[in-house]
Amino acid sequence: MIRQSDWQHDSQYMAIVADLLIKPEVCKLKDITQHINSNRLDHSIMVSYKSYVLGKKMHLDYKAMARAGLLHDLFYYDWRTTKFNEGSHAYVHPRIALDNAKKITKLSKKEADIIVKHMWGATVAPPKYIESAIVSFVDDQCAIVEASIPFFKTKYAKLKFKFSGVS
Ligand SMILES: [Fe+2]
Ligand SMILES: [Fe+2]
Repeated sequence: MIRQSDWQHDSQYMAIVADLLIKPEVCKLKDITQHINSNRLDHSIMVSYKSYVLGKKMHLDYKAMARAGLLHDLFYYDWRTTKFNEGSHAYVHPRIALDNAKKITKLSKKEADIIVKHMWGATVAPPKYIESAIVSFVDDQCAIVEASIPFFKTKYAKLKFKFSGVS
C-alpha cells in the first residue's frame, strides 16, 4: 500500500518530477479543492506516484507516467461553476491541462496522450498507450479514495462517539 508521504522519500521518483514540483503553475494546484477534502496538487501527486510505482513493476515507461500523471489535472477553473460550449468538463479539462503542461515543459507523444486521455471511460477516444490506460485507472482509483475517506472518517468518529458511552 502506498501512503500519502511515501513519494517524498523516493529519491528516484523525486529526480523525475523535481523540476515540475517547483513550477508555480504546479504549486498553485495546492489552493484548489479536488474530490471534497483533497486539493488538486495532492491528488496529482498521488496519481503520479501510484502510476510511477505500477509502471516500474510492469516494466513500462514509468517516467512518462510520473510526469504526465503529475500534470494530468493542470487546470484552474471551478468545474462546478464554469461551463464550456466545446463540451463537458470530462472532455474539456484534459485538453486545457495539456495546453497548460506544454507551456511549462516539453512533452513526449506518450505524455501528451496520458494527459489528454485520462478521462477515458467518461470520454470516448481510447488511449494509444498502455501507460495512458493505467494512469486513467489510477486517477479513477485515487478519486474514489479521496472522495470516500472523509465519509469513512465521519462514520468512524460517530461510531467511536456512540460506543464511548457518551451518547
Ligand atoms: Fe482530470
Ligand atoms: Fe485527476
